[in-house]
Amino acid sequence: MNAPVAAPVLSVRNAEKRFGAVHALKDVSFDARRGEVLALLGDNGAGKSTLVKCIAGVHALDAGEILLDGEAAALHSPAAARNAGIETVYQDLALFDNLTPAQNFYCGREISFPQWLPRGLRFMNSRAMDQEAADVIDRLKVRLPKFDAPVALMSGGQRQAIAVARATVFTRKLVMLDEPTAALGLRESHKVLDLIKQLRAEGNAVILITHNMEHVVELADRAVVLRQGRKVGELKPDRSNRQELVSMIVGAEA
Ligand SMILES: Nc1ncnc2c1ncn2[C@@H]1O[C@H](COP(=O)(O)OP(=O)(O)O)[C@@H](O)[C@H]1O
Ligand SMILES: [Mg+2]
Repeated sequence: MNAPVAAPVLSVRNAEKRFGAVHALKDVSFDARRGEVLALLGDNGAGKSTLVKCIAGVHALDAGEILLDGEAAALHSPAAARNAGIETVYQDLALFDNLTPAQNFYCGREISFPQWLPRGLRFMNSRAMDQEAADVIDRLKVRLPKFDAPVALMSGGQRQAIAVARATVFTRKLVMLDEPTAALGLRESHKVLDLIKQLRAEGNAVILITHNMEHVVELADRAVVLRQGRKVGELKPDRSNRQELVSMIVGAEA
């Protein structure tokens, strides 16, 4: 186990986000810690994906701040967030349809050589990339029709597995998974849960968005609940408070 007083790897402080008339995030504050799975819960439209995208550098907050390891972080782009050690599996699966799984894995951070040349002049190490991507996907036990086929030809579950696998390769600090099992069957879902456990055991902070309360109870060390953009609760989920959690999510006060 980690030291109980470990500094949070991520702190969101008083986050505000508006899209025109929609007030998507209202004064949201929470922490995420290494070695912990934090479930981010809420009904559709609660602001979960918006919060994830603000941390991932897709959207900028209107007010509030994001700290990484206690320091104000400038996450002005997805690349900046990735460089800061944050990996994201988006709900709307940001894969490139015309690329193979390996090409999707390494898009923007290809393994190239020789190291002493500037990036633009290097050769791509396609074999190393194919091999590493294949190893990880193999660990997921997801059957892909053809490893060198464009991902457009794959099912929702296969695509989701590739996106999760990609995040596990690159995470160094924090991984956020926005409904990663939504398109998956039972068997594939459990592989993804295993991968999440593995990421946690490796000392990453994990933020998991899911509507599956079984997964929350099985996996989450803590849950933060959003309702209409506001944080309405935080607790440690277990079998006994599952109903309380559901009430918080839907707004029927227990
Ligand atoms: N890019 C956007 N432009 C305008 N409105 C948005 C955008 N993204 C999200 N919203 C709105 O913000 C609110 C929160 O959405 P979202 O974060 O996707 O919720 P959740 O992921 O919890 O279902 C919703 O009302 C949604 O319609
Ligand atoms: Mg969402």
